[in-house]
Amino acid sequence: MSTIVTIHSFRRGVGKTSLVSSLAVLLAKRGRRVALIDTDFQSPGVHLFFGIPDPECAFNDYLWGKCDILSVARDVTSQFAGDAAGGLFILPASSKISDILQSIRIPRNIDHYAGGLDKLKKELSLDVILVDAPAGLNESTLQAIAVSNTVVLVLHPDKGDFQGTAVTVDMIRRLQVPIIHLVLNDAPETLDVEDAARQLEETYHCGGGIVLKHSEELMALSSARPFALQYPSHPLTTQLDELAERLSV
Ligand SMILES: Nc1ncnc2c1ncn2[C@@H]1O[C@H](COP(=O)(O)OP(=O)(O)O)[C@@H](O)[C@H]1O
Ligand SMILES: [Mg+2]
Repeated sequence: MSTIVTIHSFRRGVGKTSLVSSLAVLLAKRGRRVALIDTDFQSPGVHLFFGIPDPECAFNDYLWGKCDILSVARDVTSQFAGDAAGGLFILPASSKISDILQSIRIPRNIDHYAGGLDKLKKELSLDVILVDAPAGLNESTLQAIAVSNTVVLVLHPDKGDFQGTAVTVDMIRRLQVPIIHLVLNDAPETLDVEDAARQLEETYHCGGGIVLKHSEELMALSSARPFALQYPSHPLTTQLDELAERLSV
């Protein structure tokens, strides 16, 4: 099974955090022990999906040497009302303005980052670590991608995004990440799914891209809860669960 799965996108606002919050829940429901880490310090969002107030110790604080990685992890398994066979731990990012501003200035130490993930994996007996990464390409994002086994790359059906994603796929391949999954998200109802999936394959050669349609229900949830928890029988949840299954092998 892949250990570290980084969720990335070329552009902001394409649905990374919505997607990864559901994937975390679905993997836990499949019996996995999962950690979900918010590393998008300039646009933190994971805490909202799990109702976590601004934490004393955030993942920023771990990277800045202010606290131990284990004191950042919140066990939210009980939010599944007992139907999760595995476990889910959330490591939120700080949403304090001062921390968001500080994160622009302080470079990340990749050895400290990788060491923290390693400790987390051992101490919490994790099967998978999901990382919600910041959008775009910069040095620390590329370093974080380089320590991943799998990257899930999210894009919108938009020419600019297609071009940016091509550059991103090329960079990820150079970093020798073995598996890339492409997710074309928020597609209009009129989009031909099979045709779009074929175009993804012809353009990027990543194998089996996933096309997720625009969902009014997801939008109306407004990041208050993982979609898969709120709508367990929805066709979109079935598609998300297929991706979770592919991440579990
Ligand atoms: N498939 C979808 N259908 C409708 N709205 C979506 C979909 N995916 C994401 N959204 C909405 O898009 C916005 C950005 O999503 P978010 O997950 O925060 O993106 P990111 O983490 O990439 O910045 C949110 O308002 C979210 O509800
Ligand atoms: Mg986000």
